[in-house]
Amino acid sequence: MRVGFIGDVVGKPGRKMLAKYLKQLRKEHGLDCVITNCENASHGFGVTPKNAGELLHSGSDLLTGGNHSWDKKEILEQMDTLPLLRPLNYPDAAPGSGYKMLQIGDKKLAVINLMGHYCMPMCDNPFVKIERFLPGLQKQNPDHIIIDFHAESTAEKQALFYMLRGKVDAVLGTHTHVGTDDLKIDGGSVYISDVGLTGCRDNVLGMESQIAIDRFLQGYGTHFDVPDTCKAIMQMVVFTLEKGCEEAYKLRIYDSGEIQRQEAYRE
Ligand SMILES: [Fe+2]
Ligand SMILES: [Fe+2]
Repeated sequence: MRVGFIGDVVGKPGRKMLAKYLKQLRKEHGLDCVITNCENASHGFGVTPKNAGELLHSGSDLLTGGNHSWDKKEILEQMDTLPLLRPLNYPDAAPGSGYKMLQIGDKKLAVINLMGHYCMPMCDNPFVKIERFLPGLQKQNPDHIIIDFHAESTAEKQALFYMLRGKVDAVLGTHTHVGTDDLKIDGGSVYISDVGLTGCRDNVLGMESQIAIDRFLQGYGTHFDVPDTCKAIMQMVVFTLEKGCEEAYKLRIYDSGEIQRQEAYRE
């Protein structure tokens, strides 16, 4: 099966890129399934039910989240009904689920959303949580397991990957909004520290640059905002799963329509 994975979609510029390009990319790259991180999809903070519907309509099958999953309160009561995950290692009392088993043709694909510890809100230790979670998941006989690891630190992301290499098919980083160039296949598993944002590429993490600059200059500032107009980018990792990950590459789609493709390296 061939999977597309899109990192943090930031605001309307990000949603517009999916609406414009994703269905066409699904056809051209033969994608059986697309997973999209939506924690910043609604004006940079959380996702509303309407915007979640938009991302699904654009060609996403499942949405994942992160520390911003909770920002739009109206989504909370729909977390159990929409194809939408929040990190697995939040307290059990939090609404929603941290994993989902998708049926893709005759294959079962388990998708897990996990959040890092470093610079993140209070949550269970992701390493301990996933180690305890996987044996129960294996009993449901998934053909493949993918993890969206929503974390700040590249070292934390690499450590989780090396702990799970060969046990899961993919560890794909989200949260920093800055794409890294370390897409690789190692021990049958695919890894990237961060897929990078889909949204404004010419601003700070997809948000208005001047607000970020003011905050650093003054020590205080206004609420972050997504620019109305900007140069946009869409970033998606594509990978093929058979016996583990057999092929992987990353696409950078510019709002001009230009597409750059980067192949994964192999250890
Ligand atoms: Fe984010
Ligand atoms: Fe985040």
